[in-house]
Amino acid sequence: MFDTMTLTKAGGALCGSLLILLLGNWAAEGLYHTGPSGHGAEGERAQAYVIDTGADDAAGEQVAEAGPSFAEVYAAADAAAGERVFGKCKACHKIDGANGVGPHLDGVVGREIAGVEGFAYSNALIGLEGDWTPEHMEAFLANPKGYAPGTKMSFAGLPKVEERANVIAYLATIGG
Ligand code: HEC
Repeated sequence: MFDTMTLTKAGGALCGSLLILLLGNWAAEGLYHTGPSGHGAEGERAQAYVIDTGADDAAGEQVAEAGPSFAEVYAAADAAAGERVFGKCKACHKIDGANGVGPHLDGVVGREIAGVEGFAYSNALIGLEGDWTPEHMEAFLANPKGYAPGTKMSFAGLPKVEERANVIAYLATIGG
């Protein structure tokens, strides 16, 4: 015969194991979800699409609310601030005509893509047509590996449109 105490203990044990199971699930879910969110701009962009409800209008508004367009920001860009942003590029790019880890960037705005003689570009960059217009460069700098999959430029990108506009405005002042 079970007395009240035994039943209480059995009930308690059952509740305890259910609780542990639940906590385990939460922990596992937590781990699973925190993984992909740590990837900066890429992660955020991926999330923005998840939120998309599928209604075209809503998606349009979302893009519009993301901030001013590159053209607007570039029109008001600050080359002096861009010189500071260029500090992030200096480890690989020089602006004195010499190639480093990356090609020199003298006169790069308007220059042919993959156009520096003697620099061993990746096929990813060689395969791109055209010149480095501010628009092309801003797309490249936002996500180098997304714009030119397979590029040798191991740089995560500049997530802020102001930083992209400012550094391009600065590079536009450097002759070639
Ligand atoms: C870790 C090194 C590294 C950093 C940091 C880096 N780059 Fe690069 N960059 C490269 C390499 C390498 C290439 C050549 C890519 C290829 O051939 O795929 C390149 C290519 C480029 C090109 C194309 C040039 C051409 O002649 O076609 C531009 C423009 C550029 N980088 C701009 C920048 C800017 C602006 C920054 C800073 C915001 C920056 N890079 C930071 C290594 C770097």
